[in-house]
Amino acid sequence: MEEFLALFQGHFKQGTFIKLTLSKPASKSADLSNIYLRRVRIKTADYVQFTYRYQQKDIIKNYDIAQSIDQLNSHLGKDFLHATLLSTREDVSLFFNKKRKVRLQKRRATSTHLPKLDHNKTKNYLIEEDAAFLEQLGVASKGRVHKAHQDKYRQINKYVEVMSGLLEQADLPQSLQIVDMGCGKGYLTFALHDFLLRNSRFIPTVVGIELREHLTSFCSTKAAALGWQNLSFIAQDIQQFDAEKIDVLIALHACDIATDIAIAKGIQADAQLIVCAPCCHKQIRKAMQSDNRMQSILKNGILEERQAEILTDGIRALMLEAYGYETKVFEFIALEHTAKNIMITAVKRKEVDKPDASTLREVASLKKMYGIQQHYLEKLLAQNY
Ligand SMILES: C[S@@+](CC[C@H](N)C(=O)[O-])C[C@H]1O[C@@H](n2cnc3c(N)ncnc32)[C@H](O)[C@@H]1O
Repeated sequence: MEEFLALFQGHFKQGTFIKLTLSKPASKSADLSNIYLRRVRIKTADYVQFTYRYQQKDIIKNYDIAQSIDQLNSHLGKDFLHATLLSTREDVSLFFNKKRKVRLQKRRATSTHLPKLDHNKTKNYLIEEDAAFLEQLGVASKGRVHKAHQDKYRQINKYVEVMSGLLEQADLPQSLQIVDMGCGKGYLTFALHDFLLRNSRFIPTVVGIELREHLTSFCSTKAAALGWQNLSFIAQDIQQFDAEKIDVLIALHACDIATDIAIAKGIQADAQLIVCAPCCHKQIRKAMQSDNRMQSILKNGILEERQAEILTDGIRALMLEAYGYETKVFEFIALEHTAKNIMITAVKRKEVDKPDASTLREVASLKKMYGIQQHYLEKLLAQNY
Protein backbone atom coordinates (compact mmCIF):
# COMPACT_ATOMS: atom_id res chain seq x y z
CA MET A 1 0.00 0.00 0.00
CA GLU A 2 2.82 2.41 0.91
CA GLU A 3 4.67 1.51 -2.30
CA PHE A 4 1.51 2.17 -4.31
CA LEU A 5 0.99 5.58 -2.69
CA ALA A 6 4.67 6.45 -3.22
CA LEU A 7 4.39 5.51 -6.91
CA PHE A 8 1.28 7.68 -7.26
CA GLN A 9 3.04 10.62 -5.59
CA GLY A 10 6.19 10.09 -7.68
CA HIS A 11 4.35 9.96 -10.99
CA PHE A 12 2.28 13.00 -10.05
CA LYS A 13 5.41 15.03 -9.21
CA GLN A 14 7.34 13.85 -12.29
CA GLY A 15 4.45 14.70 -14.63
CA THR A 16 3.98 11.07 -15.74
CA PHE A 17 0.68 10.48 -13.94
CA ILE A 18 -2.32 9.72 -16.20
CA LYS A 19 -5.08 8.61 -13.86
CA LEU A 20 -6.00 6.47 -10.89
CA THR A 21 -9.23 4.53 -10.38
CA LEU A 22 -10.62 2.99 -7.22
CA SER A 23 -13.04 0.16 -7.93
CA LYS A 24 -14.60 -2.97 -6.43
CA PRO A 25 -16.50 -1.52 -3.47
CA ALA A 26 -16.06 -3.67 -0.36
CA SER A 27 -19.82 -3.69 0.14
CA LYS A 28 -22.06 -4.73 -2.76
CA SER A 29 -24.76 -2.35 -1.56
CA ALA A 30 -22.43 0.67 -1.42
CA ASP A 31 -23.84 3.81 -3.04
CA LEU A 32 -20.33 5.01 -3.96
CA SER A 33 -19.27 2.78 -6.86
CA ASN A 34 -15.95 4.31 -7.99
CA ILE A 35 -13.53 7.14 -7.40
CA TYR A 36 -11.64 8.52 -10.40
CA LEU A 37 -8.52 10.66 -9.97
CA ARG A 38 -6.94 12.87 -12.61
CA ARG A 39 -4.61 15.84 -12.71
CA VAL A 40 -6.12 19.31 -13.18
CA ARG A 41 -4.45 22.71 -13.50
CA ILE A 42 -6.18 25.53 -11.67
CA LYS A 43 -4.57 28.89 -12.44
CA THR A 44 -0.90 27.88 -12.24
CA ALA A 45 -0.98 25.02 -9.74
CA ASP A 46 -1.65 21.31 -10.30
CA TYR A 47 -4.21 19.45 -8.19
CA VAL A 48 -5.72 16.00 -8.15
CA GLN A 49 -9.37 15.98 -9.10
CA PHE A 50 -11.41 13.27 -7.37
CA THR A 51 -14.69 12.25 -9.01
CA TYR A 52 -16.80 10.32 -6.50
CA ARG A 53 -19.29 8.30 -8.54
CA TYR A 54 -22.55 7.54 -6.73
CA GLN A 55 -25.52 5.65 -8.24
CA GLN A 56 -27.36 8.87 -9.06
CA LYS A 57 -24.69 11.59 -9.08
CA ASP A 58 -21.01 12.54 -9.30
CA ILE A 59 -19.31 14.67 -6.66
CA ILE A 60 -16.08 16.35 -7.75
CA LYS A 61 -13.40 17.68 -5.39
CA ASN A 62 -9.89 19.02 -6.03
CA TYR A 63 -7.11 18.25 -3.54
CA ASP A 64 -3.40 18.93 -3.31
CA ILE A 65 -1.15 15.89 -3.34
CA ALA A 66 -0.90 15.54 0.47
CA GLN A 67 -4.70 15.71 0.85
CA SER A 68 -5.00 13.20 -1.99
CA ILE A 69 -2.80 10.71 -0.18
CA ASP A 70 -4.99 11.15 2.94
CA GLN A 71 -8.09 10.50 0.84
CA LEU A 72 -6.58 7.36 -0.70
CA ASN A 73 -5.54 6.15 2.75
CA SER A 74 -9.09 6.56 3.98
CA HIS A 75 -10.65 4.56 1.11
CA LEU A 76 -8.11 1.93 0.00
CA GLY A 77 -8.54 -1.45 1.61
CA LYS A 78 -11.56 -0.08 3.49
CA ASP A 79 -14.42 0.74 1.14
CA PHE A 80 -12.53 -0.09 -2.09
CA LEU A 81 -10.60 -3.29 -2.76
CA HIS A 82 -8.95 -2.45 -6.06
CA ALA A 83 -6.94 0.49 -7.39
CA THR A 84 -5.34 1.00 -10.78
CA LEU A 85 -2.73 3.66 -11.40
CA LEU A 86 -1.90 4.54 -14.99
CA SER A 87 1.25 6.49 -15.83
CA THR A 88 3.18 6.94 -19.04
CA ARG A 89 5.91 4.66 -17.59
CA GLU A 90 3.92 1.79 -16.05
CA ASP A 91 0.49 0.58 -14.96
CA VAL A 92 0.23 -0.41 -11.32
CA SER A 93 -2.64 -2.31 -9.71
CA LEU A 94 -3.32 -2.86 -6.05
CA PHE A 95 -5.62 -5.67 -4.91
CA PHE A 96 -7.01 -6.39 -1.46
CA ASN A 97 -8.57 -9.77 -0.77
CA LYS A 98 -11.43 -10.37 1.67
CA LYS A 99 -8.97 -10.61 4.56
CA ARG A 100 -7.46 -7.30 3.39
CA LYS A 101 -4.18 -8.96 2.39
CA VAL A 102 -2.66 -6.71 -0.22
CA ARG A 103 -0.91 -7.45 -3.55
CA LEU A 104 0.79 -5.04 -5.93
CA GLN A 105 1.13 -5.75 -9.64
CA LYS A 106 3.08 -3.75 -12.24
CA ARG A 107 2.56 -3.93 -16.00
CA ARG A 108 3.81 -2.22 -19.13
CA ALA A 109 2.14 1.17 -19.62
CA THR A 110 -1.02 0.83 -21.74
CA SER A 111 -0.90 4.51 -22.69
CA THR A 112 1.86 7.03 -23.26
CA HIS A 113 -0.51 9.98 -23.83
CA LEU A 114 -0.86 12.54 -21.06
CA PRO A 115 -4.46 13.76 -20.81
CA LYS A 116 -5.43 17.41 -21.15
CA LEU A 117 -5.52 19.38 -17.92
CA ASP A 118 -8.65 21.49 -18.35
CA HIS A 119 -10.47 21.94 -15.06
CA ASN A 120 -14.04 22.23 -16.31
CA LYS A 121 -14.25 19.05 -18.31
CA THR A 122 -18.01 18.74 -18.79
CA LYS A 123 -18.40 14.99 -19.18
CA ASN A 124 -16.45 12.38 -17.28
CA TYR A 125 -16.31 9.61 -19.86
CA LEU A 126 -14.86 6.24 -18.91
CA ILE A 127 -13.27 5.93 -22.34
CA GLU A 128 -11.27 9.06 -23.01
CA GLU A 129 -10.96 10.55 -26.46
CA ASP A 130 -7.28 9.71 -26.68
CA ALA A 131 -7.77 5.95 -26.11
CA ALA A 132 -5.49 4.24 -28.64
CA PHE A 133 -8.18 1.86 -29.91
CA LEU A 134 -10.42 4.77 -31.00
CA GLU A 135 -7.65 5.92 -33.30
CA GLN A 136 -7.11 2.38 -34.63
CA LEU A 137 -10.82 2.03 -35.44
CA GLY A 138 -10.93 5.43 -37.15
CA VAL A 139 -13.21 7.02 -34.54
CA ALA A 140 -10.59 9.56 -33.45
CA SER A 141 -7.32 11.03 -34.53
CA LYS A 142 -4.66 12.88 -32.55
CA GLY A 143 -6.63 12.27 -29.37
CA ARG A 144 -9.88 13.87 -30.61
CA VAL A 145 -13.05 12.07 -31.65
CA HIS A 146 -14.17 12.99 -35.19
CA LYS A 147 -17.36 15.03 -35.40
CA ALA A 148 -19.02 12.30 -37.46
CA HIS A 149 -18.36 9.76 -34.70
CA GLN A 150 -19.64 11.70 -31.68
CA ASP A 151 -22.78 9.53 -31.44
CA LYS A 152 -20.71 6.35 -31.63
CA TYR A 153 -18.41 7.74 -28.92
CA ARG A 154 -21.38 8.48 -26.64
CA GLN A 155 -22.78 4.98 -27.28
CA ILE A 156 -19.39 3.41 -26.46
CA ASN A 157 -19.21 5.29 -23.18
CA LYS A 158 -22.78 4.54 -22.19
CA TYR A 159 -22.18 0.86 -22.92
CA VAL A 160 -18.98 0.72 -20.85
CA GLU A 161 -20.73 2.54 -18.00
CA VAL A 162 -23.57 -0.02 -18.02
CA MET A 163 -21.11 -2.92 -18.24
CA SER A 164 -18.94 -1.63 -15.39
CA GLY A 165 -21.98 -1.66 -13.08
CA LEU A 166 -23.15 -5.10 -14.20
CA LEU A 167 -19.73 -6.71 -13.81
CA GLU A 168 -19.76 -5.71 -10.16
CA GLN A 169 -23.17 -7.32 -9.63
CA ALA A 170 -22.38 -10.73 -11.11
CA ASP A 171 -20.40 -13.49 -9.45
CA LEU A 172 -17.40 -13.55 -11.80
CA PRO A 173 -13.88 -14.99 -11.67
CA GLN A 174 -10.86 -12.72 -12.03
CA SER A 175 -9.89 -14.43 -15.30
CA LEU A 176 -12.88 -13.47 -17.32
CA GLN A 177 -14.02 -15.20 -20.53
CA ILE A 178 -16.20 -12.85 -22.57
CA VAL A 179 -17.87 -13.72 -25.87
CA ASP A 180 -19.37 -10.95 -28.01
CA MET A 181 -21.71 -12.49 -30.61
CA GLY A 182 -22.37 -10.54 -33.81
CA CYS A 183 -19.64 -8.04 -32.95
CA GLY A 184 -19.63 -6.26 -36.34
CA LYS A 185 -16.75 -3.81 -36.63
CA GLY A 186 -15.98 -4.32 -32.96
CA TYR A 187 -16.35 -0.79 -31.57
CA LEU A 188 -18.07 -2.03 -28.43
CA THR A 189 -15.87 -5.13 -28.18
CA PHE A 190 -12.67 -3.07 -28.20
CA ALA A 191 -14.19 -0.55 -25.79
CA LEU A 192 -15.04 -3.19 -23.20
CA HIS A 193 -11.62 -4.81 -23.49
CA ASP A 194 -9.90 -1.44 -23.12
CA PHE A 195 -12.00 -0.52 -20.10
CA LEU A 196 -11.36 -3.86 -18.37
CA LEU A 197 -7.61 -3.65 -18.95
CA ARG A 198 -7.38 -0.16 -17.53
CA ASN A 199 -10.00 0.03 -14.83
CA SER A 200 -10.88 -3.32 -13.39
CA ARG A 201 -9.65 -6.22 -11.30
CA PHE A 202 -10.42 -8.59 -14.17
CA ILE A 203 -7.97 -10.23 -16.54
CA PRO A 204 -10.17 -10.40 -19.63
CA THR A 205 -10.10 -12.75 -22.59
CA VAL A 206 -12.52 -11.41 -25.17
CA VAL A 207 -13.67 -13.22 -28.31
CA GLY A 208 -15.75 -11.50 -30.99
CA ILE A 209 -17.83 -13.73 -33.29
CA GLU A 210 -18.97 -12.29 -36.58
CA LEU A 211 -20.32 -13.74 -39.85
CA ARG A 212 -18.56 -11.25 -42.10
CA GLU A 213 -14.94 -12.25 -42.57
CA HIS A 214 -13.68 -8.87 -43.76
CA LEU A 215 -14.81 -7.41 -40.41
CA THR A 216 -13.07 -10.06 -38.31
CA SER A 217 -9.84 -9.68 -40.26
CA PHE A 218 -10.06 -5.87 -39.84
CA CYS A 219 -10.60 -6.29 -36.08
CA SER A 220 -7.83 -8.91 -35.74
CA THR A 221 -5.33 -6.57 -37.42
CA LYS A 222 -6.29 -3.72 -35.10
CA ALA A 223 -6.10 -5.89 -31.98
CA ALA A 224 -2.60 -7.04 -33.04
CA ALA A 225 -1.53 -3.41 -33.64
CA LEU A 226 -2.59 -2.58 -30.08
CA GLY A 227 -0.70 -5.60 -28.73
CA TRP A 228 -3.92 -7.01 -27.25
CA GLN A 229 -3.27 -10.74 -27.41
CA ASN A 230 -6.35 -11.61 -25.38
CA LEU A 231 -8.74 -10.00 -27.81
CA SER A 232 -9.51 -12.19 -30.82
CA PHE A 233 -12.10 -12.43 -33.57
CA ILE A 234 -13.56 -15.47 -35.31
CA ALA A 235 -15.45 -15.42 -38.62
CA GLN A 236 -18.29 -17.80 -37.86
CA ASP A 237 -22.04 -18.17 -37.59
CA ILE A 238 -22.78 -17.91 -33.87
CA GLN A 239 -24.91 -21.03 -34.24
CA GLN A 240 -21.67 -22.98 -34.86
CA PHE A 241 -19.80 -21.47 -31.90
CA ASP A 242 -18.89 -24.12 -29.40
CA ALA A 243 -19.56 -22.49 -26.07
CA GLU A 244 -17.45 -24.44 -23.60
CA LYS A 245 -16.85 -21.71 -21.07
CA ILE A 246 -18.48 -18.30 -21.11
CA ASP A 247 -18.60 -16.00 -18.10
CA VAL A 248 -20.10 -13.04 -19.93
CA LEU A 249 -22.20 -13.36 -23.08
CA ILE A 250 -22.85 -10.23 -25.13
CA ALA A 251 -25.04 -9.83 -28.23
CA LEU A 252 -25.59 -6.26 -29.30
CA HIS A 253 -27.91 -5.48 -32.20
CA ALA A 254 -27.60 -9.00 -33.58
CA CYS A 255 -30.38 -9.56 -36.10
CA ASP A 256 -33.75 -11.12 -35.17
CA ILE A 257 -33.25 -14.73 -33.98
CA ALA A 258 -29.44 -14.29 -33.73
CA THR A 259 -30.22 -12.68 -30.36
CA ASP A 260 -32.13 -15.82 -29.32
CA ILE A 261 -29.29 -18.07 -30.46
CA ALA A 262 -26.84 -15.99 -28.43
CA ILE A 263 -29.03 -16.00 -25.30
CA ALA A 264 -29.49 -19.79 -25.56
CA LYS A 265 -25.71 -20.29 -25.91
CA GLY A 266 -25.20 -18.10 -22.84
CA ILE A 267 -27.73 -20.03 -20.74
CA GLN A 268 -26.29 -23.37 -21.87
CA ALA A 269 -22.72 -22.28 -21.07
CA ASP A 270 -23.91 -21.11 -17.62
CA ALA A 271 -22.82 -17.51 -18.29
CA GLN A 272 -23.05 -15.43 -15.12
CA LEU A 273 -23.91 -12.33 -17.09
CA ILE A 274 -25.86 -12.01 -20.35
CA VAL A 275 -26.27 -8.64 -22.03
CA CYS A 276 -28.14 -8.09 -25.26
CA ALA A 277 -29.57 -5.20 -27.22
CA PRO A 278 -32.03 -6.76 -29.65
CA CYS A 279 -32.36 -5.57 -33.21
CA CYS A 280 -35.37 -6.51 -35.39
CA HIS A 281 -38.22 -8.74 -34.18
CA LYS A 282 -39.37 -10.55 -37.31
CA GLN A 283 -39.95 -14.02 -35.88
CA ILE A 284 -42.65 -12.99 -33.41
CA ARG A 285 -44.15 -10.40 -35.75
CA LYS A 286 -44.81 -13.14 -38.30
CA ALA A 287 -46.00 -15.57 -35.63
CA MET A 288 -48.58 -13.17 -34.11
CA GLN A 289 -52.04 -14.25 -35.30
CA SER A 290 -54.31 -11.63 -36.78
CA ASP A 291 -57.35 -12.81 -34.84
CA ASN A 292 -55.98 -11.85 -31.45
CA ARG A 293 -57.84 -9.45 -29.18
CA MET A 294 -55.63 -6.49 -30.15
CA GLN A 295 -56.44 -6.72 -33.87
CA SER A 296 -58.28 -3.38 -34.05
CA ILE A 297 -55.13 -1.68 -32.74
CA LEU A 298 -52.50 -3.81 -34.43
CA LYS A 299 -53.87 -3.20 -37.90
CA ASN A 300 -51.56 -0.14 -37.73
CA GLY A 301 -48.15 -1.41 -38.86
CA ILE A 302 -46.07 0.66 -36.46
CA LEU A 303 -48.08 -0.50 -33.44
CA GLU A 304 -47.83 -4.10 -34.61
CA GLU A 305 -44.06 -3.66 -34.84
CA ARG A 306 -43.88 -2.20 -31.33
CA GLN A 307 -46.09 -4.98 -29.99
CA ALA A 308 -43.83 -7.60 -31.60
CA GLU A 309 -40.84 -5.92 -29.97
CA ILE A 310 -42.49 -5.89 -26.53
CA LEU A 311 -43.53 -9.53 -26.81
CA THR A 312 -40.20 -10.76 -28.20
CA ASP A 313 -38.09 -9.02 -25.58
CA GLY A 314 -40.57 -9.50 -22.75
CA ILE A 315 -40.59 -13.25 -23.34
CA ARG A 316 -36.78 -13.28 -23.65
CA ALA A 317 -36.56 -11.65 -20.22
CA LEU A 318 -39.08 -14.12 -18.76
CA MET A 319 -37.22 -17.11 -20.22
CA LEU A 320 -33.99 -15.85 -18.68
CA GLU A 321 -35.79 -15.53 -15.34
CA ALA A 322 -37.08 -19.08 -15.70
CA TYR A 323 -33.46 -20.22 -15.98
CA GLY A 324 -32.31 -18.50 -12.78
CA TYR A 325 -31.36 -15.01 -13.99
CA GLU A 326 -32.37 -11.63 -12.57
CA THR A 327 -33.26 -9.51 -15.57
CA LYS A 328 -33.70 -5.85 -16.43
CA VAL A 329 -35.01 -4.29 -19.61
CA PHE A 330 -34.26 -0.60 -20.11
CA GLU A 331 -33.46 2.12 -22.61
CA PHE A 332 -29.78 1.81 -23.29
CA ILE A 333 -29.14 5.17 -24.94
CA ALA A 334 -31.48 8.01 -25.87
CA LEU A 335 -33.40 7.46 -29.10
CA GLU A 336 -31.84 10.40 -30.93
CA HIS A 337 -28.53 8.46 -31.00
CA THR A 338 -29.86 5.13 -32.31
CA ALA A 339 -33.23 3.56 -33.03
CA LYS A 340 -32.10 0.24 -31.50
CA ASN A 341 -32.06 1.22 -27.90
CA ILE A 342 -33.51 -1.50 -25.69
CA MET A 343 -31.12 -3.50 -23.56
CA ILE A 344 -31.83 -6.73 -21.71
CA THR A 345 -29.42 -7.62 -18.92
CA ALA A 346 -29.42 -10.88 -16.99
CA VAL A 347 -27.35 -11.70 -13.93
CA LYS A 348 -27.30 -15.34 -12.83
CA ARG A 349 -28.76 -15.62 -9.34
CA LYS A 350 -29.46 -19.32 -8.89
CA GLU A 351 -28.63 -22.66 -10.44
CA VAL A 352 -31.67 -24.47 -11.84
CA ASP A 353 -32.13 -28.10 -12.89
CA LYS A 354 -35.14 -27.20 -14.93
CA PRO A 355 -36.84 -23.92 -15.83
CA ASP A 356 -39.27 -22.43 -13.35
CA ALA A 357 -42.74 -23.80 -14.14
CA SER A 358 -44.76 -20.75 -13.06
CA THR A 359 -42.66 -18.41 -15.27
CA LEU A 360 -43.13 -20.79 -18.20
CA ARG A 361 -46.90 -20.66 -17.56
CA GLU A 362 -46.76 -16.86 -17.83
CA VAL A 363 -44.97 -17.22 -21.17
CA ALA A 364 -47.57 -19.72 -22.35
CA SER A 365 -50.45 -17.42 -21.43
CA LEU A 366 -48.85 -14.46 -23.28
CA LYS A 367 -48.35 -16.59 -26.38
CA LYS A 368 -51.93 -17.81 -26.22
CA MET A 369 -53.24 -14.27 -26.07
CA TYR A 370 -51.39 -13.40 -29.28
CA GLY A 371 -51.87 -16.74 -31.04
CA ILE A 372 -48.11 -17.39 -31.06
CA GLN A 373 -47.11 -21.03 -31.44
CA GLN A 374 -43.53 -20.71 -30.27
CA HIS A 375 -40.88 -18.13 -29.35
CA TYR A 376 -37.60 -19.07 -31.05
CA LEU A 377 -35.67 -18.92 -27.76
CA GLU A 378 -38.05 -21.46 -26.22
CA LYS A 379 -37.46 -23.79 -29.13
CA LEU A 380 -33.66 -23.57 -28.76
CA LEU A 381 -33.79 -24.15 -25.02
CA ALA A 382 -36.21 -27.04 -25.36
CA GLN A 383 -33.81 -28.68 -27.85
CA ASN A 384 -30.62 -28.25 -25.87
CA TYR A 385 -31.15 -27.67 -22.20
C1 LIG B 1 -26.00 -4.46 -36.42
S1 LIG B 1 -24.48 -5.28 -36.31
C2 LIG B 1 -24.01 -4.94 -34.65
C3 LIG B 1 -22.53 -4.89 -34.40
C4 LIG B 1 -22.12 -4.65 -32.97
N1 LIG B 1 -22.52 -5.70 -32.09
C5 LIG B 1 -22.64 -3.32 -32.47
O1 LIG B 1 -23.63 -3.32 -31.72
O2 LIG B 1 -22.08 -2.28 -32.78
C6 LIG B 1 -24.95 -6.98 -36.24
C7 LIG B 1 -23.85 -7.90 -36.67
O3 LIG B 1 -24.22 -9.24 -36.36
C8 LIG B 1 -23.72 -10.07 -37.39
N2 LIG B 1 -24.51 -11.31 -37.39
C9 LIG B 1 -25.84 -11.47 -37.64
N3 LIG B 1 -26.21 -12.75 -37.54
C10 LIG B 1 -25.09 -13.44 -37.21
C11 LIG B 1 -24.82 -14.81 -36.96
N4 LIG B 1 -25.77 -15.73 -37.04
N5 LIG B 1 -23.55 -15.16 -36.65
C12 LIG B 1 -22.57 -14.24 -36.56
N6 LIG B 1 -22.76 -12.92 -36.78
C13 LIG B 1 -24.01 -12.52 -37.10
C14 LIG B 1 -23.91 -9.24 -38.65
O4 LIG B 1 -23.04 -9.65 -39.70
C15 LIG B 1 -23.58 -7.85 -38.15
O5 LIG B 1 -22.25 -7.48 -38.38
